[in-house]
Amino acid sequence: MEVFRIAGNNSLSGSVSVSGSKNSSLPLFAASLLSSDETILENVPQLSDIQFMAEIISELGAEVERLEPNTWRINPKSIVHYAPYELVRKMRASICLLGPLAGRLGRAEIPMPGGCVIGNRPIDLHIRALQGLGAKVRLKGGVVQIDAENLKGNKLFLGGRHGSTVTGTANALMAACLTPGITTLDGAACEPEINDLCKMLLSMGAQITGVGSHRLKVEGVDRLNGCRHKVIPDRIETATYVLAAAITNGEILIRGAELSHLGAFANLMDECGVEMSENQIGELTVRVGSKGLKSFEVITLPYPGFPTDLQAQTTALACFSPGLSILTEKVYPSRFMHVPELLRMGAQISLEGASAIVKGAASLTGAPVMASDLRASAALILAGLAAKGETWVQRIYHLDRGYDKFEKKLQGMGAEVERLPESALPKSFGPLID
Ligand code: EPZ
Repeated sequence: MEVFRIAGNNSLSGSVSVSGSKNSSLPLFAASLLSSDETILENVPQLSDIQFMAEIISELGAEVERLEPNTWRINPKSIVHYAPYELVRKMRASICLLGPLAGRLGRAEIPMPGGCVIGNRPIDLHIRALQGLGAKVRLKGGVVQIDAENLKGNKLFLGGRHGSTVTGTANALMAACLTPGITTLDGAACEPEINDLCKMLLSMGAQITGVGSHRLKVEGVDRLNGCRHKVIPDRIETATYVLAAAITNGEILIRGAELSHLGAFANLMDECGVEMSENQIGELTVRVGSKGLKSFEVITLPYPGFPTDLQAQTTALACFSPGLSILTEKVYPSRFMHVPELLRMGAQISLEGASAIVKGAASLTGAPVMASDLRASAALILAGLAAKGETWVQRIYHLDRGYDKFEKKLQGMGAEVERLPESALPKSFGPLID
């Protein structure tokens, strides 16, 4: 395993380019299975989750080839309907295979996704949607078995206790594209990643209206064609770099971002004193305003609300914002694994139910910390960039699932961060007080 060593307390400067979206790329790989023709995906980020998805799709029988670092060719001419547990258990997003396999082959067998530290990850809404189209679903030996021989268009509702389901919407949408008749998806997720999926499906010949809204309408077609599709920029990666500039009181330029995907986040940055502005060629400049950072309150919600995937990183910023900030998780109420690690750095955070109450301090102290999941690792790295002294972040493999060349991009902005083997960890961390 590898670790990051970070020497904190220097302000970032310079520029960074955003990679393609992980949470768009994964359903798009799955969507390529809806056709027996070849699909080319461009601007795909280089992530371990992408590698996992490519391996799974290859195990299904498709030809999968990386033509260039960010360009993949998928030829799903002949595929089987079942995916291997060993690979699927590594990545929850493999559940996105249910819809395409059910739509194209009339059946699917996908192992239930494994547990997840950010909270319960049920798939009841996915199953309800597919049953709504007439599929017969059963769970046998931890495997979801779908018999979808005679699907028929129907009215579906995709909302749940915590709002719409993103990958559940993707599954229902992909299955509906090849389901005879008209299907309406009410309470559909309208994240930019779903819109990107709709755009790709339309280019494959799907008939979809209502794109960008919570109500999608699909008229099933007999078959779909291959396509060439460019993945949208990663809005969570973009926002993570905005937060890196803010937390280090730096000034950076972000290339390749899509500001229109950052609505609620950009609004919150304005509230807490971070200035984000777009130049004539769509580049984003980020700096902290003259009045400095301010405390804030935020609640995570489905899009267009504030993204749960930015809660951990924004909690790190709150640690440096004078005053009391409150961050409330409405999507994954227990998504606070980063908090105990931030406390090790001297943060003052108390957890009250689904809220983190943060008392902003002048600074934190570097410390050895443990990453628990993808976004928590980004939060710990942001805190390390701004803390006094050295921070060692362990289990960096979590980060590699969703951030493309993270340390290289941070180094390009002047951060002192390096990726080292776990053996480089200091044997004993000396007393914190000299
Ligand atoms: C997607 O996960 C993202 N992953 C997650 O990003 C993101 O946190 C999440 O959407 C919410 O925005 C990908 O797109 C690959 P959901 P997904 O179904 O689709 C409940 C990251 O860090 N729910 O929208 O699995 C669920 O418990 C990852 O990049 C049900 O109750 O999330 C949650 O509270 C983490 N039943 C809420 O809905 C279901 O059948 C939203 O879940 C499905 C979900």
